[in-house]
Amino acid sequence: MAVAVVAATDAAIQEAGRRLAAGDLVAFPTETVYGLGADATSDAAVARLFDAKGRPRFNPLIIHVANPPAAAALVVLDGLAERLATAFWPGPLTLVGQRTPDCPVSYLACAGLATIAVRVPAHPVARALIRAAARPIAGPSANRSGRLSATRPEHVAADFDDRVALVLDGGPTPLGLESTVVEVVGGRATILRPGALTEEALMAVAGPLERDEGTEGHPRSPGRLASHYAPERPLRMNATSLLPGEAGLAFGQAPAPSFADAPNLSVREDLVEAAANLFAMLRALDQGPATGIAVAPVPEEGLGRAINDRLRRAAEPKGLC
Ligand code: TXA
Ligand code: MG
Repeated sequence: MAVAVVAATDAAIQEAGRRLAAGDLVAFPTETVYGLGADATSDAAVARLFDAKGRPRFNPLIIHVANPPAAAALVVLDGLAERLATAFWPGPLTLVGQRTPDCPVSYLACAGLATIAVRVPAHPVARALIRAAARPIAGPSANRSGRLSATRPEHVAADFDDRVALVLDGGPTPLGLESTVVEVVGGRATILRPGALTEEALMAVAGPLERDEGTEGHPRSPGRLASHYAPERPLRMNATSLLPGEAGLAFGQAPAPSFADAPNLSVREDLVEAAANLFAMLRALDQGPATGIAVAPVPEEGLGRAINDRLRRAAEPKGLC
């Protein structure tokens, strides 16, 4: 049966909190993308979540909490990690660090690792839901494994059936790209996944950063497998013209007349607007009649880095997960 999509009223949020506490799955908006939530302290709820997503169990989940003290109960936050938390929480930053000794989160949620990924979302519905559930919430992006992240409730409904108890409808997510995942070890910060918080903003607080490009296809963040963000159609980046059968996705001034009627990530070359549009436009093109998707060049700066990262992954031949 189809999943129930309900407006995120106070009453619906309270009901969703009860469903989470009872071990059910609830999809909810965050400022980045929709999350598929489960009680992070329950092995059974987390197992249900992996099954519903079709997610490989070696790929750990991000744990969502309501505030920084709740995060500090799960992950060791000291020095640089604490400075980053103070600067960017609530917001689109996920911090990876050592689990605290009495961390109650299911090891299944963390794929058995000694580290844990935690974030404090800024979206009012996400925050109210975590408070209503009164426990940490495991929340991967609310898409089937290997598909594009969901930025609208209808994307969630298209990917799941009633194994998800309900979707809280908070409209389109404001940022449209997943959080930036940063690991802090020994006073050094490494970006494991570029995302909605830019490298420039992070560097203003953390100084020089490292990037985990992955060695021999083994990135430190297990979710960074090459074909993670794949549409069904083959995708080409940095396209300046369309090949027969392709649909275009423009950015700024269309690079060729053939792009003139194509959807445009941002006519005024605003990377924030482009990030918010990216997944919804890709999903729409992926459902159209075209046999491929050609994306115009997007500058490799600020949010453009995370946009190009997602496009590179979407352009990889499908494989691993
Ligand atoms: O914006 C977001 O981050 C969204 C919203 C819903 O919060 N969530 C999200 O979750 O994108 P997900 O599960 O799709 O991506 C989580 C990423 C994966 O690449 C995973 O491998 C990585 O975080 N991750 C989780 N725990 C980790 C750990 N202990 N060490 C390294 N990477 C970790
Ligand atoms: Mg995801």
